[in-house]
Amino acid sequence: MGFWFQWMILALTAEFLIVAAEYFKPFNVSYDHRAMIIDGKRRMLISGGIHYPRATPEMWPDLISKSKEGGVDVIETYVFWNGHEPVRGQYYFEGRYDIVKFVKQVGSSGLYLFLRIGPYVCAEWNFGGFPVWLRDVPGIEFRTDNALFKEEMQRFVKKIVDLMKEESLFSWQGGPIVMLQIENEYGNIESSFGPKGKDYMVWAAKMAVGLDAGVPWVMCKQVDAPEYIIDTCNGYYCDGFKPNSDKKPVVWTENWDGWYTSWGERVPHRPVEDLAFAVARFFQRGGSFQNYYMYFGGTNFGRTSGGPNYITSYDYDAPIDEYGLLSQPKWGHLKDLHAAIKLCEPALVAVDSPQYIKLGPKQEAHVYRENAHSSGQNLSFHESKCSAFLANIDEHKSATVKLFGQAYTLPPWSASILPDCRNIAFNTAKIGAQTSIKTVRFDDTSYVNNPVNLQMMVPNQVARISETWNSVKEPIGVWSNSNFTFQGILEHLNVTKDRSDYLWYSTRIYVSDEDILFWKDNQVSPILTIDSMRDLVYIYVNGQFTGGAKGKWIKVVQPVNLKQGYNDITLLSQTVGLQNYGAFLEKDGAGFRGQIKLTGCKNGDIDVTEFMWTYQVGLKGEFLKIFSIDNNRSAEWTEFERDAIPSNFSWYKTQFDAPGGVDPVVLDFGSMGKGQAWVNGHHIGRYWTLDAPKDGCQTCDYRGSYDSNKCTTNCGKPTQAWYHVPRSWLQAADNLLVIFEETEKTPFEISIKSGFSETICAKVSESHYPPLHAWSSPKITNGTISLKTMIPALHLQCDAGHTISSIEFASYGTPRGSCQKFSKGSCHAPNSFSVVSEACRGRTSCSVAVSDAVFGGDPCHGVVKVLSVEVRCSSSSYISSASMK
Ligand SMILES: *[C@@H]1O[C@H](CO)[C@@H](O)[C@H](O)[C@H]1NC(C)=O
Ligand SMILES: *[C@@H]1O[C@H](CO)[C@@H](O)[C@H](O)[C@H]1NC(C)=O
Ligand SMILES: *[C@@H]1O[C@H](CO)[C@@H](O)[C@H](O)[C@H]1NC(C)=O
Ligand SMILES: *[C@@H]1O[C@H](CO)[C@@H](O)[C@H](O)[C@H]1NC(C)=O
Ligand SMILES: *[C@@H]1O[C@H](CO)[C@@H](O)[C@H](O)[C@H]1NC(C)=O
Ligand SMILES: *[C@@H]1O[C@H](CO)[C@@H](O)[C@H](O)[C@H]1NC(C)=O
Ligand SMILES: *[C@@H]1O[C@H](CO)[C@@H](O)[C@H](O)[C@H]1NC(C)=O
Repeated sequence: MGFWFQWMILALTAEFLIVAAEYFKPFNVSYDHRAMIIDGKRRMLISGGIHYPRATPEMWPDLISKSKEGGVDVIETYVFWNGHEPVRGQYYFEGRYDIVKFVKQVGSSGLYLFLRIGPYVCAEWNFGGFPVWLRDVPGIEFRTDNALFKEEMQRFVKKIVDLMKEESLFSWQGGPIVMLQIENEYGNIESSFGPKGKDYMVWAAKMAVGLDAGVPWVMCKQVDAPEYIIDTCNGYYCDGFKPNSDKKPVVWTENWDGWYTSWGERVPHRPVEDLAFAVARFFQRGGSFQNYYMYFGGTNFGRTSGGPNYITSYDYDAPIDEYGLLSQPKWGHLKDLHAAIKLCEPALVAVDSPQYIKLGPKQEAHVYRENAHSSGQNLSFHESKCSAFLANIDEHKSATVKLFGQAYTLPPWSASILPDCRNIAFNTAKIGAQTSIKTVRFDDTSYVNNPVNLQMMVPNQVARISETWNSVKEPIGVWSNSNFTFQGILEHLNVTKDRSDYLWYSTRIYVSDEDILFWKDNQVSPILTIDSMRDLVYIYVNGQFTGGAKGKWIKVVQPVNLKQGYNDITLLSQTVGLQNYGAFLEKDGAGFRGQIKLTGCKNGDIDVTEFMWTYQVGLKGEFLKIFSIDNNRSAEWTEFERDAIPSNFSWYKTQFDAPGGVDPVVLDFGSMGKGQAWVNGHHIGRYWTLDAPKDGCQTCDYRGSYDSNKCTTNCGKPTQAWYHVPRSWLQAADNLLVIFEETEKTPFEISIKSGFSETICAKVSESHYPPLHAWSSPKITNGTISLKTMIPALHLQCDAGHTISSIEFASYGTPRGSCQKFSKGSCHAPNSFSVVSEACRGRTSCSVAVSDAVFGGDPCHGVVKVLSVEVRCSSSSYISSASMK
């Protein structure tokens, strides 16, 4: 008995230990006017946004570790209410919505977590994160002083805070959560609600704080936030930002490092030189916490994309791309920036506010020198901690400035970071990090017609998409017993509850002989008008497609051909991502507004609004789940021949083998029209091949204020052609691909691709700053840090699963050009190639010091030398899988 009893205790204790696993020693979080105070110490924190449902759980560990390696201290995420409570009172915390697992993974990697509960999150996410059932609560008004809304909001916020507590995930429990957010950019719309807006905001703040989470709460873009909540900045630049009290630190909750886009629009990019400048300026001018929105953007799988009309990719031009690969040089340059800021942290936190020194008309310095007296001891000039930032905000000219008697040259629109107030560790405009050029491999059985990056496409011997396709037609209009008839036009979301994008409306109009004659005599046709419509409508008359329109609350005017007698008018109303931004979301709705009329008739307009309408929600294939592995046979699939004429509204299915190796996999739907796709039953998202405008993609200059129209690509090409299929959704062979296509496109040109950084380049000058690790063992002479003996280095790193297989170019001297266009200059060390080859070939990563000594002496005296290198990475698994076939 005693023995077993002891065992029981041991077993229980062990279990308890597992449940209560601490990621940190419990610590408290507070703040003062200067910074967040973590475990009693002020901290300068770099945060990176990763939204857990925009990746798969299998991707999370890699994304978190790449964030950590990039110098991120905190992972930020929103909480997605509609993912967690799809049906009122029925919670879901599994799969991509396993938030507890995500937070634990962040904690076990040693990073902190910033949880932005909202629960309104905007986020270009369907309905801004609100569950669609919320709008059906009678009498509810969102985000204002409305008891019903407040009750629902509080219940969900409490649910999340309690869940985090139960799982011991707050800092004081040894978990990673250091900060929380309530509401989201409410200040933008508060005035729309009159005095009730303010009351609601104060209620939300009190309610949040009343949940006893034990860590600070923030409200972003909320200038009137109460004194116990930190009001924070969102934007491209936040260096001038001041919170509404001198007791609060300067926090930047969203640094927009890129932007989202819509179907048919250009793809925005933010240059890293400008992004780094914005971050350096923020810390220069007293900022203390900065979050990249996004550090990894990911994918809007399924129908999670917000709207209207946001694309499935949420890449956001983030430092980690949609597929989880490093986006270089963005990731690397920011990593160098973060390391430089970290070197300044002791001085930044030691000082209440920096000393401002004007250096020129558009040049300035901020110096953080520890106050000798505040440190409790008398320190000499050199002993006190001192860090400085120099900035040149001139967009056109570089400037030479002097600080403490030393001269520094600053490129235009740049900031330099001097961790010791003397030596430059980093300049925002000088990139030392590698550039990576991604190569895409495609299956060799498909036709390749994607003009993007064609020169970088290589046939992949492994991936194969079957040449056999099956198809089944989706009925036009009513398809099941779930149809119903109602007099009048019902609001789209009231009917679909967002269970589908699609809602069919059908009615019948009687046309007399008189009308037919009238139209014939006057050579006119009647016109169907819809006062107002969103997001998309297709109009069918007697089963024939007649026209369509897309837009947001636009008027539709469609000439129609009618016959004598009864005519069936069928309208297919579609949403393409529910509205995620603005006041009164619950009233916004979708579909049709106002009247639907037939105009141009002999005896005046016919108002069909109040006719009897028959409704059918969704597609037959959707509701029979013919895309799922179990139900793939539930439809009457027939083989679709290559020369068959494709028809609108068809489902297609086939099978494919996954590309070998670990590289990310995409399906290229550039040849398709509009629809949705599933792989092995996983909904990979909506697709829509709409070209961006032909012009407006001018070459991009990092200098000057950024906005989302400044640097764009894909002009004249589809906004999105490639759709991410996460590796964890694939098996080696026989993956089931099912697509629903609305237009008359054939599926035969769909191809499977995989990509990785095949070509990587770097270019580092011998006058570049010493490697940041040099600062950890600096030479100190007479109290002054001397980095003169530390030499800069060039680093190269292939993606996971790849090694450097060849050196395409290497020159130490005065090489010209940029990546893929390097050429030797007049000065060239003859052993450049062998030195780089020795250091890099066969390795996944390598470093080469940029100095004469390494290249066997000075190849040209009195000239500043540069090392330029281009290498090729290859996948060993690719080669081995290929040979298996
Ligand atoms: C955190 O603060 C609370 C309340 O002030 C205190 O009781 C607790 O000991 C602190 N915990 C740590 C780890 O400092
Ligand atoms: C620090 O310096 C001040 C003035 O220079 C002097 O009055 C004071 O005694 C010194 N304190 C210590 C601890 O050396
Ligand atoms: C529409 O619903 C009615 C009533 O449930 C049913 O009789 C009819 O067959 C349905 N139509 C179709 C096409 O399924
Ligand atoms: C949606 O339905 C509710 C009743 O369920 C009704 O009160 C509301 O007015 C409807 N909304 C619209 C826009 O028709
Ligand atoms: C198919 O839809 C397109 C618009 O997407 C339209 O132009 C075409 O006429 C339609 N064809 C048929 C047969 O419905
Ligand atoms: C289709 O469904 C059947 C069972 O209905 C299943 O055995 C088969 O594996 C499925 N096919 C694919 C490609 O998943
Ligand atoms: C060392 O510092 C002292 C006092 O700051 C100064 O007088 C001296 O010239 C310095 N020596 C060198 C080699 O810089």
